[in-house]
Amino acid sequence: MQPPISIAIHGGAGTILRSKMSEQLKQEMLAVLEASVRAGYEILQSNGDAADATIAAVKVMENSPHFNAGKGSVLTHEESIEMDASIMHGKALNAGAVAGIKGIKNPIELANAVMLNSDHVFLIADGAHRFADSQGFEFLDEEYFVTERRRQQLQSMKEKGIFALSESKYPDDKKFGTVGAVALDCFGNLAAATSTGGVTNKKFGRVGDSPIIGAGTFAENGNVAVSTTGVGEYFIRKTVASDLAARMRYLKEDVHVASEQVIHGELEAMGGEGGLIALDSKGDIHFAMNSSGMYRASIDAQGAITVKIYADE
Ligand code: GLY
Repeated sequence: MQPPISIAIHGGAGTILRSKMSEQLKQEMLAVLEASVRAGYEILQSNGDAADATIAAVKVMENSPHFNAGKGSVLTHEESIEMDASIMHGKALNAGAVAGIKGIKNPIELANAVMLNSDHVFLIADGAHRFADSQGFEFLDEEYFVTERRRQQLQSMKEKGIFALSESKYPDDKKFGTVGAVALDCFGNLAAATSTGGVTNKKFGRVGDSPIIGAGTFAENGNVAVSTTGVGEYFIRKTVASDLAARMRYLKEDVHVASEQVIHGELEAMGGEGGLIALDSKGDIHFAMNSSGMYRASIDAQGAITVKIYADE
């Protein structure tokens, strides 16, 4: 029997309003989600590595203006873009992460370069840019990343004096935008990758959970791969991704029970809204959320594809 391969992705969780979702936008977003999960699955099908599959999947969403990562990232208070990303490979627990990144088209590739080509795990801002330069990364003008939607969002938030996401004319402006992927390859490797623009109107070099190994991203062969999406200030303090892995490791909970316990347990009680994707070493996938929706897709160990948006689907 062939060893199982499997992949799941998310494009952010939070308040996603059916009443404000046009059919055209919905179809566009579903198409990107499907393209993303298929890009990763193609690598797994050609006996590729789990980390490469997650990178391929995340890049599709980073390249789309519809998601808060890469192109389409939200704007900071200073009307700039600062992106965060991380990746972890479960075989030797190798990891790479970057935060406060500007001008890099695919921050997940820079996180991967940190994992593969540096002696470190986590590089930030100017230092990360110097590392990117040394690795031959191209720097794009900020205009590539900025969309009119994000300009309007920032304006609305500045007027209200808040930094979180708020409703405007878009169906998911209260979504904690982040993208991520988890994959299991035919060699039994688990990997997780997460990328984000953070939160609109963020100040002072604010960094969320996405680039933090153990909070936004975690992968451990024989156990689980996790990528999270939610209010970083809560997900960091609850070390959500590693908490889920620890529940499976020590309490012997399965991926479904552990995911639900983490998302609906103390995290929810303290106000931490969001979701996660988790994939175990058998290829079982779990999507968990305590919000009204999470953009998500998967191709399971039987090759079945799902693409969904709302929590009640
Ligand atoms: N979860 C994304 C962030 O808080 O930045």
